[in-house]
Amino acid sequence: MLTQPEKLNVVPFVSVDRMMKLVHRIGVERMLADLAQAIETDFLRWGQFDKTPRIASHSEVGVIELMPTSDGQTYGFKYVNGHPSNMKRGLQTVTAFGLLADVETGYPVLLSEMTILTALRTAATSAMAAKWLAPKGAATMALIGNGAQAEFQALAFKAVCGLREVRLYDIDPAATAKCARNLAGSGLTVTQCRTAEEAILGAQIITTVTADKTNATILTDNMVGAGVHINGVGGDCPGKTELHRDILTRSAIFVEYPHQTRIEGEIQQLAPDHPVTELWEVIAGRAAGRTDAAQVTLFDSVGFAIEDFSALNYIRSKLAETGLYEDLDMIADPDDPRDLFGMLLRAA
Ligand SMILES: NC(=O)c1ccc[n+]([C@@H]2O[C@H](COP(=O)([O-])OP(=O)(O)OC[C@H]3O[C@@H](n4cnc5c(N)ncnc54)[C@H](O)[C@@H]3O)[C@@H](O)[C@H]2O)c1
Repeated sequence: MLTQPEKLNVVPFVSVDRMMKLVHRIGVERMLADLAQAIETDFLRWGQFDKTPRIASHSEVGVIELMPTSDGQTYGFKYVNGHPSNMKRGLQTVTAFGLLADVETGYPVLLSEMTILTALRTAATSAMAAKWLAPKGAATMALIGNGAQAEFQALAFKAVCGLREVRLYDIDPAATAKCARNLAGSGLTVTQCRTAEEAILGAQIITTVTADKTNATILTDNMVGAGVHINGVGGDCPGKTELHRDILTRSAIFVEYPHQTRIEGEIQQLAPDHPVTELWEVIAGRAAGRTDAAQVTLFDSVGFAIEDFSALNYIRSKLAETGLYEDLDMIADPDDPRDLFGMLLRAA
């Protein structure tokens, strides 16, 4: 049963186990398409949200970030880390969890794992952006970086954009083999490539989703032909980018929230006033997306709090029908609100 209003101390919790069951219950492609729709719907009411660049705590090896937002009724935040060196230690590069709360009372209404949900929402956002920006009929995507996020990206583009072929490349062939194995049976034609140059052959969309805490050059200028859409996902921190600057200066650049992207995205390499278009404005019909077939478009993705808010709300909307959550005794809520100490005494 879903938590009743009188049980405000009990917060529905979606564990990793329940999240995986939920994805299987809904179907991964269906869920990616649903999330893309949910995020697009929230981008359409962009003005209703509190917005701030995420709060980052950097170290030599990675970053830990808090990503808050509110639409005035519901508040949400995500805790997320990014540690490219983790993988070599057998740990995830990115882990996350998140929470929704009722703005009226401040009481939490959902706590959820978000490592899997982040991979889903990042891929859904990428595919949603490509729906507006990629050349018409784009059916082949180069996928450079074949780690934890990769399969989610491929399947989101299949579900949302009608992708038919994916060309994989990673500096570690074992990652490419893993990705190809996981996508076998997905209905996508999967090609394993030995170089990034080979991966981009015939691709109308290029997704870069590598992890390295450096200004890397995953794509050089000569690798990007006319009419290509680039979905740059892995450049998402100061000093952590994937594209050569020359690509940026000849691309039409689309971003989530410029105040955050100018700090964290590929455009940290450009002047602070370099023109960019906010994706929500394209969706709302206030700005142009792709204007001609030869244009190079770039979605400079860094991940924004509203996408996590949309994803958490989607998960919350599934609780009652699926029962895939646990009750978490999380908020101390004595019957007499001033008798917090009395509640503690009675528990002895
Ligand atoms: N924009 C967003 O919203 C968002 C969300 C989640 C993750 N990310 C970022 O996406 C990236 C990938 O995340 P992940 O969880 O898949 O990481 P991961 O560590 O699981 O995988 C990264 C892969 O990149 C490969 N790689 C590294 N350097 C490469 C290079 N030069 N060429 C080709 N491949 C290379 C690695 O071998 C590895 O397989 C990270 O940088 C992460 O911070 C962005």
